[in-house]
Amino acid sequence: PNPVFSTRISRYGSEALREAALLIRAGEPVAVPTETVYGLAADATDSNAVAAIYAAKGRPSFNPLIVHVADQEMAGRLAEFSPVADRLAERFWPGALTLVLPARADSGLSPLVMAGLPTVALRLPAHPAMRALIRESGRPLAAPSANRSGSISPTRAEHVMASLNGKIRMILDEGPTSEGLESTIVAPETDCIRLLRPGPVTAAMLEEAGMLPVVTGADNTKIEAPGQLESHYAPSKPVRLNALKAEKNEYLIGFGLMPCHVNLSPDADLREAAAHLFAALHMGDASAAERIAVAPIPNEGIGVAINDRLRRAAA
Ligand code: TXA
Ligand code: MG
Repeated sequence: PNPVFSTRISRYGSEALREAALLIRAGEPVAVPTETVYGLAADATDSNAVAAIYAAKGRPSFNPLIVHVADQEMAGRLAEFSPVADRLAERFWPGALTLVLPARADSGLSPLVMAGLPTVALRLPAHPAMRALIRESGRPLAAPSANRSGSISPTRAEHVMASLNGKIRMILDEGPTSEGLESTIVAPETDCIRLLRPGPVTAAMLEEAGMLPVVTGADNTKIEAPGQLESHYAPSKPVRLNALKAEKNEYLIGFGLMPCHVNLSPDADLREAAAHLFAALHMGDASAAERIAVAPIPNEGIGVAINDRLRRAAA
């Protein structure tokens, strides 16, 4: 049976950090901000702790988790880095890039983290709270987005509370996240960089730094990206895309100058829109409207990742 906790939001600071690290060492998951979205972190070397993440999220356990590290040295103990992987890590870490790499046999990671795959997804985040928690607990931290499986990812502590209240003990609060979309996920291969999930690090940036062509989508003969389920980021209401105005009973999420209920970026700035996207979907979900409509978003730069999440929200 699933225990019920009283969930506390604690402002990030040295005392809250120490408490969070104690919970991690005791095998408890803790919600913590990263620069992309809030994650639900637990000791990646402890199978019971990893199982507690799956239980709190209600996530199918065939879906592997991203392991977060505090420095390149920790990363090197967990996975094999090819020259391409090294170039990408050098250029984009710390930051919003996740690398899917062959796991080392002596990594010490719980097999649950990889859900049976021979690879592990690694990220060295830039956010000081997540990095401090990894250092303070002395463990690599497995962390999916801190929301119930299948719902919208959290970019604020209140989003985590709304989704996981009673399922976890503690949420470290450090305000809204800066990027607003989950990290870009790639599998570096010998002759290409496979893009498994678009995100803040764009295909053009990867190609330039990795010096190899970027290929989109999973290679079904080799790697599976089971998290790329179509319905992954869905609000509880129907979502209509490319809307130019609100129909009756619709909550319109706008972009650029237009009449709407909430605007992702009145200046039509795609980075700003990415940072505001999930909060806007949460607001539409909480509104009295029956449906959510979203204005067209240009499919360039980080707009590719925004449209990826919107297609899933509408699926
Ligand atoms: O920005 C982010 O990436 C956030 C923050 C908390 O770091 N985390 C996040 O985790 O979005 P999650 O669990 O919601 O998404 C992890 C994705 C899933 O789609 C999963 O299938 C994929 O990573 N993944 C994990 N390990 C993999 C592997 N070995 N091979 C292929 N895909 C993998
Ligand atoms: Mg997620």
